[in-house]
Amino acid sequence: MGRIDRLLADMSLGEKIGQLNMAASYRAVTGPAAPDGLEEGVRSGRVGSVLNLWGSAEVHALQRLALEESRLRIPLLVGLDAMHGHRTIFPIPLAEACLFDPDTWRETARTTAAEAAADGVNLTFAPMVDVARDPRWGRIAESPGEDPWVASEFAVAKTRGFQGSDLRAAGSVAATTKHLGAYGAVTAGREYASVDVSERTLHEVHLPAFAAAVAAGTAAIMPAFVEIAGVPVTANGALLRDWLRGRCAFDGVVISDYNAIAELRAHGVAADTAEAAALALRAGIDIDMASETYVRGLPAALQRGLVGQAELEASVLRVLRLKERLGLLDDPYGRGTAAGAAMTARPLAREVARRAVVLLTQRRKVLPISADTRHIAVIGPLGSAPREMLGPWAAAGRPEETVTTLEGLRTALPHCRIEFSPGVATAAVDPHGIPAAIELCRTAQLVVLCVGEDASMSGEGGSRAELGLPGCQRALAEAVLDVGKPVIVLLSSGRPLALPWLFERADAVLATWFLGSEAGHAIADVLTGEFNPSGRLPVTWPRHVGQAPIFYGQRPSGRPAKAGERLSSTYLDVPATPQFPFGHGLSSSSFTLCDLRCAPHVLRATDSIEVSVGVRNDSASGGEATLFLFSSDPLASISRPLLELKAVRRIALAAGARGSVGWHLPVAALAFPGAQLAPVLEPGRFGIHVGQSADREQLLSCEIELTA
Ligand code: BGC
Repeated sequence: MGRIDRLLADMSLGEKIGQLNMAASYRAVTGPAAPDGLEEGVRSGRVGSVLNLWGSAEVHALQRLALEESRLRIPLLVGLDAMHGHRTIFPIPLAEACLFDPDTWRETARTTAAEAAADGVNLTFAPMVDVARDPRWGRIAESPGEDPWVASEFAVAKTRGFQGSDLRAAGSVAATTKHLGAYGAVTAGREYASVDVSERTLHEVHLPAFAAAVAAGTAAIMPAFVEIAGVPVTANGALLRDWLRGRCAFDGVVISDYNAIAELRAHGVAADTAEAAALALRAGIDIDMASETYVRGLPAALQRGLVGQAELEASVLRVLRLKERLGLLDDPYGRGTAAGAAMTARPLAREVARRAVVLLTQRRKVLPISADTRHIAVIGPLGSAPREMLGPWAAAGRPEETVTTLEGLRTALPHCRIEFSPGVATAAVDPHGIPAAIELCRTAQLVVLCVGEDASMSGEGGSRAELGLPGCQRALAEAVLDVGKPVIVLLSSGRPLALPWLFERADAVLATWFLGSEAGHAIADVLTGEFNPSGRLPVTWPRHVGQAPIFYGQRPSGRPAKAGERLSSTYLDVPATPQFPFGHGLSSSSFTLCDLRCAPHVLRATDSIEVSVGVRNDSASGGEATLFLFSSDPLASISRPLLELKAVRRIALAAGARGSVGWHLPVAALAFPGAQLAPVLEPGRFGIHVGQSADREQLLSCEIELTA
């Protein structure tokens, strides 16, 4: 008998259930208030893991209670949402996705793991890989955007980064890939609302990233709060047992979302605590996060025969195995150095942040700021807002260690007079500060206008029905634009904002999202020309909130959109096209693609397609191009999306230089879920398309034929 089986054999019912009970700590509260009695819970074996605790002293103190005062001396799992950094905060995931660079995604996760582990954390509730196609949903900020292929790459990179090659290593933490299901498809983008997606959309769009994370070895999975077609994911055996454990062969731990098991009663599928506990355990949830439903409900559920000892013990074994895999049974204090987490990664944070900036428009050449600029007005509520730069969920991030736009510009341009006026608050309707801001603009040579959302306007509970600038920021922006000085707009937000009037009038607009600890330096690098912007949108950017959900991977319509044609798939009042397509992003360089080749033209299922394209930098600035490879399947047994992303490559080219990019694409990548949702590869013609965005007008295309 191994030590885990011995432990299990020695456990009372209460101790078994305790291993499945994750208690909330006091440091960051992310759901209904945490129950008291954490320490007593640990001592008595009623608590097997905690969440939202960090700091080596605090973690070790609690760990010591488990190891010295509980009967079985089993160490605790200590979990925290290290979503995009720990003490060093990187850009929010939606912004980091703009890099389209899995190596960097992995590196930031690795760094985050090291910092979090130095603070005693051994489990993170990340990565979040929900495909998000509706910018009203606040959690789009935490996601890698709209595309299933990108979400899958992100899932793999992050899982590998957090966990490293050895989960036991002092700098590794267990990843919890979340939120399994189709959380991003909540009705009308409203937080926690119903989800009703087809099985096809579930399998084609929302699940691939989770399958990829499992294949990459994610230690844990967190189901979404929501219900899909009437079945809460927390009680969804078809998804958690049949698909996740069965089809994907996941043998790790499933951790409920915060209080989600108790909420099965509110969903109307459990009559009482015992039923809620039984439904969740039977569906495959091992750990109850913060609801105490297992502790209070499982004994009765067992007595009533709603669930069996075998199911309970299987979950306990999985939890113990994770503790063992993490090295906790051998070295429970291995994580959490005396000094705690230092900021080990400021240079990396700056590099990633500047690469996450997307130059959305440049109507007049205002970038980079010319060297003879002597007086800049930084206007707007987000010009000097350290807390906001960290984004909606940066638990251990510190505003006092965060560089604002104002600070970044002042450091980068020491000989320039840089004055600041917020003008208005982000959300309050109080325009009285606008005149002072306008006065400043009149005397300056250039205005840097910092508008957008506060961090709390996205993230969990951050759904918005409007995608405009909150408060009276539009009045401020219009007054600033009316002055007639060159205006560069920095748009901070956790989502695309629908601001056609701003894109039409401002000289340049940059999406600066929430860039993290080094935000200000990164922004200054881009504005001064120290860095040529290279970020590309991982989401389609709407013109109007009424276009949501919006994404490039549409299926063909029988009556495709035709401008001016009423009986076509369009709107009467807003164009059907987005403001900016998926993949959009300008720079000081411009690139032309030519000579797309696909070979061979006729292939079999086991072959690979060799794709190559020429790229020319037509500009006087060196820069980086991002090339997207899409496929299309114009005739199939199931109508296929007009474009499907299959690969991305970036290429750096000096001014005037030429280069080429090649891919080796297995034909198997053209498979899709067939009528029964199993992958099928149907013979016929496929399109291969390469471009700098998902704008179909701009793509180079060639055709291949798959023979039976
Ligand atoms: C969120 C999760 C998070 C958990 C713990 C919940 O409210 O939905 O994403 O991991 O809180 O903080």
